[in-house]
Amino acid sequence: MTNSDVLMLVGDSHGNTKYICAALTLAKDLGVSRILQLGDLGIWPGEEGRLYLNAINDTSRATGVRFDFIDGNHEDFDQLDVYERESDRDPDGSVLVRPYVHWWPRGSTTVIGGRSFAFLGGAVSVDRFARKTGKSWWPQESLTQQQIDRFHASVKGPVDVMVTHDAPASMPMRSTGSYPPELLRASYDMRLVLDKAVRHAKPKLLCHGHWHLRHYSRSHVKGFRFKTLGAGSESLLEGVCLLDLRDLSPATHGSQEYPLSLSRVYRGDEWKSRIVDIR
Ligand SMILES: [Fe+2]
Repeated sequence: MTNSDVLMLVGDSHGNTKYICAALTLAKDLGVSRILQLGDLGIWPGEEGRLYLNAINDTSRATGVRFDFIDGNHEDFDQLDVYERESDRDPDGSVLVRPYVHWWPRGSTTVIGGRSFAFLGGAVSVDRFARKTGKSWWPQESLTQQQIDRFHASVKGPVDVMVTHDAPASMPMRSTGSYPPELLRASYDMRLVLDKAVRHAKPKLLCHGHWHLRHYSRSHVKGFRFKTLGAGSESLLEGVCLLDLRDLSPATHGSQEYPLSLSRVYRGDEWKSRIVDIR
């Protein structure tokens, strides 16, 4: 059985093959036909990165679960630039980084399950000081004016779902680490750009990753109110969310039905769903 009314959202995976392949298998077991990964998939240079993408591709093909992703900040953007220039496009407009691995570049849009989606990946790495340019950090992580213009041009009216990697500045996120002030400032400035994009796209729901925090909450920017859904990182317990496309609410897995109560918790080797309100 497949359920095209439910989309599986998957948070930051950072090159974790086991996590992504487990999510694809879980989707198949739940009858969910499509995954959307919210950035920091972990596109990476060299053999390690190549084998990782091959594993996602092979598992998507084997499970029959379609795999889509947006870019985050921890990606090899030199490689993504080549894919954007040279790779085949799916008829829906996504870039095929592998035959079964679909990338939605910044400013692209689509329709999934009758719902309009707009994509705007990217984020500023506040740990950039500990990374090496071209090996573990790439300047293309930041949004460019051209990409922002493309987003505003391609999104003509209110969308159902806006998908970002970082959270807009209007969302009260708090960093837990200690980072250089100039990088925190640059990060916040980019989140302000996302605020403007939200005001333009007027989404009913915004989905994001990056903060490694699973939550479902409300936010507002200059009077515009929208719901937000965030996914955690590298754990089926925290990094996987189900979205019911019929009413854009989070859904949890039950024996056969969607959606079930958000408070329902599974134990043992079953999947536990826990929604945290961060306000
Ligand atoms: Fe990130």
